Amino acid sequence: MKHILHIDCSPRDASHSRDLSAALLARLLKRYPGAAVTRRDLGREPVPHAASAYATALSSPAALSSGEAATATHLSEQLIGEIERADALVIGTPMNNFTVPSVFKAWIDQILRMGRTMGVTATGEKTGLLADKPVYIGIASGGVFHGAHAKQPDFLIPYLVAAFGCVGITSLQFFPLQATAFLDGDRLATDREALVAAMR
Ligand SMILES: Cc1cc2nc3c(=O)[nH]c(=O)nc-3n(C[C@H](O)[C@H](O)[C@H](O)COP(=O)(O)O)c2cc1C
Repeated sequence: MKHILHIDCSPRDASHSRDLSAALLARLLKRYPGAAVTRRDLGREPVPHAASAYATALSSPAALSSGEAATATHLSEQLIGEIERADALVIGTPMNNFTVPSVFKAWIDQILRMGRTMGVTATGEKTGLLADKPVYIGIASGGVFHGAHAKQPDFLIPYLVAAFGCVGITSLQFFPLQATAFLDGDRLATDREALVAAMR
């Protein structure tokens, strides 16, 4: 492994998902010393929501092959290129209202592009056009959404499985650090270490 893309999505400095993704990255770098890391900090520098020109470019196959589409997909190309150049992704994200925060969704909206990162079969199913690679996703949630004691719906893990899956990336591993609103710092540190130790 030579190249890792490290993405964070929390707007907070004292962020549990940032600490978790940093710990996941550190463990990966121990396994692959010398791997280069590209940083994409969506929490501090969000990418814009899909603007009119981008939405128009994606609105039909004809629009996608127009001259304007090349300019409108410039940011999308840049972000997709970061994934293509990486051998693995490490992501830290909070759970916001049962799913990913909007900064993460805005990034996903730039990645899933018909004819570029996904195709379609004769019978209408989407097929991924990117090479599969490991994606390590650390999640911080104020409450409990995962496992036997879940108290709320989870639209985060199934959503990311579907979103990455439709571009061909299926090797996802999730690390949910839960109940950040209720547990003290020592307990959260212990839980974080246990999660990171389970990295495959
Ligand atoms: C707008 C917003 C929505 C949230 N929605 C949820 C939620 O649906 N479920 C949950 O368990 N926690 C929710 N939380 C709490 C965060 O998941 C929790 O504070 C988490 O630790 C934030 O990640 P961070 O520490 O990396 O910033 C929400 C927080 C915010 C600010």
